[in-house]
Amino acid sequence: MAIHLGWIFSGMLLLVSSFASAKLLMPNNIMDLNVPFATNSFNRKSFPSDFIFGTASSSYQYEGDANESCRGRSIWDTFTQEFPERIADGSNGEMGIDFYHRYQSDLQTVKDMNMDSFRFSISWSRVIPSGKIRAGVNRDGIEFYNKLINATIAKGLQPFVTIFHWDTPQALEDMYGGFLSDNIVNDFRDFAELCFQEFGDRVKYWITINEPHKYSSDGYDSGQFAPGRCSKWVDEKYCKHGNSATEPYLVAHNLLLSHVAAADTYKKRYQVSTKCTFLMDKLLFNPYDISEIISLSLVFKA
Ligand SMILES: *[C@@H]1O[C@H](CO)[C@@H](O)[C@H](O)[C@H]1NC(C)=O
Ligand SMILES: *[C@@H]1O[C@H](CO)[C@@H](O)[C@H](O)[C@H]1NC(C)=O
Repeated sequence: MAIHLGWIFSGMLLLVSSFASAKLLMPNNIMDLNVPFATNSFNRKSFPSDFIFGTASSSYQYEGDANESCRGRSIWDTFTQEFPERIADGSNGEMGIDFYHRYQSDLQTVKDMNMDSFRFSISWSRVIPSGKIRAGVNRDGIEFYNKLINATIAKGLQPFVTIFHWDTPQALEDMYGGFLSDNIVNDFRDFAELCFQEFGDRVKYWITINEPHKYSSDGYDSGQFAPGRCSKWVDEKYCKHGNSATEPYLVAHNLLLSHVAAADTYKKRYQVSTKCTFLMDKLLFNPYDISEIISLSLVFKA
């Protein structure tokens, strides 16, 4: 299954494009495109018939509605506010591309592109503003994702849902350092379980964690992503807090534990005919010591 899903996601990543540019470029009919390369030798038929084509997105980048509907803050709100100069055009996700209000027409664009699926992520702090389920669930947030899932299905698109796409609730970052602490495992499991309970009747494909490698290395080694932690020897100007030699590993470890906790809950209580994996970015890592390969393959089986 893992390999098959890998295929699906490679396809989805190939076809990722921002809605903003997709909107500008989309002709009324996909066939109107004056495609500057030959499609007679490489086209949809080159793929297995059950290959799923789709586009993908992530909540902070495109939803907008950041201060409304009782959404809590995430580490990306904090990061873009604190370091606007670290974002290419100085923008942030407060408005995104206003998907929160325009999801119907954006989904239509995905459909017009002849896709089979649409992948989006759930903003943890939109459904659980404090990050901790016992402090309360935001029903407006649940309602938004219910409408989005229903609209996706109504357009004939299969929803692929990412539970965590890097936007840790700021409240958990403040409370115990977010993914630096193994306290995150229980809170993540609760969040994932809420998603399975609320949306699992309609969502058949789940991704627990998007690109754990990027989250740990860019957030805690280079400091270029939220929460922007890194050592002074990496960047004298921007690195105020962190330890690039140790923190990426602690965070990667807690991401793996969180994935396992969520996947385990899912398998025990929610799995019917649905699929759950986590999404790896396509980089090849070689173990420092070849004997480590055995333990690595065990991690992937988990
Ligand atoms: C959203 O909240 C942040 C932090 O409180 C504030 O800086 C920002 O101006 C607000 N944005 C809008 C569009 O209200
Ligand atoms: C979504 O669809 C489900 C099942 O089809 C339905 O029970 C529910 O009321 C719908 N929710 C919204 C917000 O449209």
